[in-house]
Amino acid sequence: MSALNGGEPLLRLEAVDVAYGAIQVLHGIDLEVRRGEIVCLLGGNASGKSTTMKTIIGTVRPLRGRILLEGREINGDSIADRVRAGVAIVPEARRIFSRLTVRENLLMGAFVRSGADVDADLERVLGIFPRLKERLVQSGGTLSGGEQQMLAIGRALMSRPRLLCMDEPSMGLAPVLVETVFDTVQQLQSDGITIFMVEQNAVMALDIADRGYVLQTGRIVLADTAQGLLGNAQMQRAYLGTA
Ligand SMILES: Nc1ncnc2c1ncn2[C@@H]1O[C@H](COP(=O)(O)OP(=O)(O)OP(=O)(O)O)[C@@H](O)[C@H]1O
Ligand SMILES: [Mg+2]
Repeated sequence: MSALNGGEPLLRLEAVDVAYGAIQVLHGIDLEVRRGEIVCLLGGNASGKSTTMKTIIGTVRPLRGRILLEGREINGDSIADRVRAGVAIVPEARRIFSRLTVRENLLMGAFVRSGADVDADLERVLGIFPRLKERLVQSGGTLSGGEQQMLAIGRALMSRPRLLCMDEPSMGLAPVLVETVFDTVQQLQSDGITIFMVEQNAVMALDIADRGYVLQTGRIVLADTAQGLLGNAQMQRAYLGTA
């Protein structure tokens, strides 16, 4: 199988540099996400995690380096092109449309598509998140934090992504809802969606992940299997609190 498709990862970043104005915040980022994996991106505040996610979806453009989707360079592609090609993002702090209803928010996720199957996708997403089904006409801004997170994930799923990039999906949620989010991520993986996830809950993220990368001031300082990172003494001291 891998001999046939050349083992090309679903996503690959090659030597990616990103700057905001004169300040460079990502330095030579190399990483890859293979089909079917859950990969997590860990690191302290301001290390460049969200910037990496934004570079993948295209809201931020790299100075240098290449972003490849199944081996095809997508640097020049618009955000809509990338969504059409199967990339979706659950942005940091959820960024739902607070004045639109739940239903309208979900339909925004299908903006790159048209036609009949949008209704079927809506039903599928509401099957994953039944709480949203009870609140279809409620405005997004009045949902609880946990419900807004479900809405942000549901909206991303409406584009039928192959690669779902999630920027701190458990942020600000009570422990029981954090578990729901991680259970959902695992469910999505078993449905065939590849996940690239930023998380501050490093231990929980590594528990469900296949591999992880650690960013420090814009550089990848560690890359290993999830088990390897969980057992790494430097990781335990700096990020896991399990030393
Ligand atoms: N639009 C912007 N203009 C200028 N600087 C920015 C911009 N966005 C981010 N930065 C800076 O880039 C650096 C990396 O930010 P980024 O949001 O990627 O970090 P992060 O790892 O996601 O942090 P956190 O854990 O706090 O979410 C920070 O120093 C931040 O201030
Ligand atoms: Mg961030």
